[in-house]
Amino acid sequence: MARNLDAFWMPFTANRQFKKAPRMLVRASGMHYWDADGRQILDGVAGLWCVNAGHNRPQIVQAIQAQAAEMDYAPPFQMGHPKAFELAERLAAIAPAGMGKVFFTNSGSESVETALKIALAYHRARGEGQRTRLIGRERGYHGVNFGGISVGGMVANRKHFGTLLAGVDHIRHTHDPARNAFSVGQPAQGAELADDLERLVALHDASTIAAVIVEPVAGSTGVLVPPHGYLQRLREICDRHGILLIFDEVITGFGRTGSPFGAQTFGVTPDIMTAAKGLTNGSVPMGAVLVRDTIHEAFMTGPENMIEFFHGYTYSAHPLACAAGLATLQTYADEGLLTRARALEPYFAEQLHALRGEPNVIDVRNIGLVGGVELAPIAGEPTRRAFGVFLDCWEQGVLVRTTGDTVALSPPLIIERAQIDQLVDTLRQALRRAA
Ligand SMILES: Cc1ncc(COP(=O)(O)O)c(C=O)c1O
Repeated sequence: MARNLDAFWMPFTANRQFKKAPRMLVRASGMHYWDADGRQILDGVAGLWCVNAGHNRPQIVQAIQAQAAEMDYAPPFQMGHPKAFELAERLAAIAPAGMGKVFFTNSGSESVETALKIALAYHRARGEGQRTRLIGRERGYHGVNFGGISVGGMVANRKHFGTLLAGVDHIRHTHDPARNAFSVGQPAQGAELADDLERLVALHDASTIAAVIVEPVAGSTGVLVPPHGYLQRLREICDRHGILLIFDEVITGFGRTGSPFGAQTFGVTPDIMTAAKGLTNGSVPMGAVLVRDTIHEAFMTGPENMIEFFHGYTYSAHPLACAAGLATLQTYADEGLLTRARALEPYFAEQLHALRGEPNVIDVRNIGLVGGVELAPIAGEPTRRAFGVFLDCWEQGVLVRTTGDTVALSPPLIIERAQIDQLVDTLRQALRRAA
């Protein structure tokens, strides 16, 4: 398959390295990809944390095909189509109680921008327009647009891009290997790290703060599971000061942690929740922002002929995405996938934590069907050790993902025990070879 690879500037990729030895995926089904050489690859990361029901599920494929034939596109401004309303209703039905309003976007990044804008406009609509400050968290990942990188806390994603949004601050991250290394599930130590928000309240005054955004489980920074009680404490502090709590559930949504959303797994209901990825099982780009009814109500004032929220995308609630989303939610429901990670978590955790003691493994973290294996970096060459392990696993027919020197696993929720074994065994062998 001779191809010129020059024109495509690949995202979040070492382009020159990749193009010297391309890793081409050409087909997928269930738990597997196939590469250009016909090799079968076990998908240990659900594509990119999105293919939660496994690949090319016929119900989803057929829904997209049928929709493309029936109606390709419908404008979302001042017009509607039935599947958009149906999908919003079905999403609200699996969301925490009271989060009944849904705004559609096309990606996680757009969901984040939308959520931040809703937070600001909400306060303004209620006469608290001085609440303009947005608070993120160190090591947070909220996509790549300007709002998202401003509240985000991954240095490489920020440092090239100027001064970002004004009026943003960050609370401390929760990674604390000295106290919590090799925690199974939620770490015991660290609820008090939420009190860092009180420091920012003392510094800026609560009356200037609109919202705090965190991932319930920080994924892209290397799988940081929230300490017991941490999210509850963050919720309490937000309530005390009238600050909105936004959960970025782009990764944790759709069964990843054993409940439809991380909010339910951890028993904390935010005010606004972002979603994407698993919403369409990765098949058509789509994101969503779920909002508390009371927040939505604050917008529904003024003359009825006026647009209430000056925001939206040409492809908000795209018919193909809605069709894919409906078929995806049906597949999740039919197969119990939104809670399957809970049943598999003990086995997954046991296998993963058995990597403790393998060469250079300095921490293992897990929750639901998410795992992180952190490696000691090669001196002076951060990320190289983990990336070498990634390449080795790829050679052995298993797709994992790395961020920094952490190997992250997030397999489709249909994974079977034998495939968990294959995933972890392949990783073990790669770790040994890398030693
Ligand atoms: C928590 C979180 N927010 C936002 C995003 C951005 O999503 P997208 O790449 O669809 O824009 C991601 C992507 O991994 C994510 O993990």
